[in-house]
Amino acid sequence: MTQVDILFRNAQIIDGSGSARFAGDVAVSDDRIVALGDLGDPGAWQAGETVDCAGQILAPGFIDPHTHYDEAVLSDPEMTCAVSQGVTSIINGNCGFSIAPLTATGPLPAPLASIIDGAGPRFARFSQYRDRLAAEPAAVNSACLIGHGTLRLNAMDDLGRAADAGEVAAMRRQLDQALDEGALGLSTGTFYPPARAATTEELIGVSDVLKDYAALYVTHMRDEGDKVVEALEETLQIGREAGCGVHVSHHKCAGLANHGRSEVTLGIIDSARQRQDVGLDTTPYIASATMLNSGRHRQASRVIITQSEPFPETAGRDLADVAAEWGCNLDDAVERLIPALGIFFIMDERDVQRILSYPHTMVCSDGIMTGSHPHPRVWGTFPRVLGHYARKLGLFSMEEAVHKMTGLPAARFRLEGRGTLAVDHFADLVIFDETQVVDAATYETPVRPATGIRQVFVNGRRVWQDGEATGARPGRPLLRA
Ligand code: ZN
Ligand code: CU
Repeated sequence: MTQVDILFRNAQIIDGSGSARFAGDVAVSDDRIVALGDLGDPGAWQAGETVDCAGQILAPGFIDPHTHYDEAVLSDPEMTCAVSQGVTSIINGNCGFSIAPLTATGPLPAPLASIIDGAGPRFARFSQYRDRLAAEPAAVNSACLIGHGTLRLNAMDDLGRAADAGEVAAMRRQLDQALDEGALGLSTGTFYPPARAATTEELIGVSDVLKDYAALYVTHMRDEGDKVVEALEETLQIGREAGCGVHVSHHKCAGLANHGRSEVTLGIIDSARQRQDVGLDTTPYIASATMLNSGRHRQASRVIITQSEPFPETAGRDLADVAAEWGCNLDDAVERLIPALGIFFIMDERDVQRILSYPHTMVCSDGIMTGSHPHPRVWGTFPRVLGHYARKLGLFSMEEAVHKMTGLPAARFRLEGRGTLAVDHFADLVIFDETQVVDAATYETPVRPATGIRQVFVNGRRVWQDGEATGARPGRPLLRA
């Protein structure tokens, strides 16, 4: 008789590789899968617990490759917004802003200020952050990219210009050290003011160290609107010249004038993939979320304020309504509301679907904790892809949907032993009802757990069951393999 901790019985197994489901069982001991398939006679197994999965899908826990929970994993470690969706691993430090290494003192610029609380701990080295995460774990596993904007803040006295050779060298040294300590790669956000003045040469100079680690250049591109093609060409050039793989974050074509252009951008990505390493992720929504004063309100058909420091009572209201009430135009209202964050309706549903269904696109939430009224993607992203796009619209199979949130990101970011179900892999698991699963969070009521996610396990420990977090915090820092 074989002794195991948990025996999952009678499941429909979707293993994350993209291949068709099969009926079977999974045995888990401690943090690993020890057997998988038709495990036969229940009498042959002695299990601490048996979980009957009849009528349910058993899949690898979802991996969210783009989040801004660098500090949230420490300050809100149950991470209910993630585990309630079946997410078991996340990648932080995106869009050019990471919590570490932060050697700069003084006030933090936006958007870093909305990711980390100025009063919270500052980690001068990535290893300090990594060690803190290991000592005070979250419910989910988390890896972290190093933000070029954070490195700029450390190395430069004036963010309004390009870095000189000495500053590029300083940034490269900090990046090199962090990669050595297990950080996953570099993220950039030249869309944002603290990095907007960075030239392509500066980005190549800093990225130069990535190839030594086979690490990725992950980017919130300079432009996702009128100049999205130029921005994409710049990203590809950086990859070629720095000799590293590139990854386009939350790919979109923003603004009415650019609706439909994903046909062009995906064509460029597809042909570039013949010559270089290119990947991408996207969120399953037509609205994006970012700083209110990003200029995006001029391209948006509707803007919802999600957070305003001087006017917290405006959270959840339409920018147009607030401006009307104040008797001013949108630009003036934005000026009065900042520091603030907003939700911007700027994309075309056909672009969202085209990008999402592109075979190399993975699913991400771009989640950021913003008080009482976040973007619904914080609570809804993964169940929305499964329930809305796979089941209801039939955009792709359930197997392909799961692959986009498991095996694909695990392979791309080299998260070893995760993302697919196999013997010796970590027991990051989600049990969901494919006939029920769907997002419940809306633009009006964004803080609401999804439907149909039955149970979630991280490293063999249950973190979500029957609509509630268990309080377990078995997550680990995920370090570059
Ligand atoms: Zn971004
Ligand atoms: Cu982001």
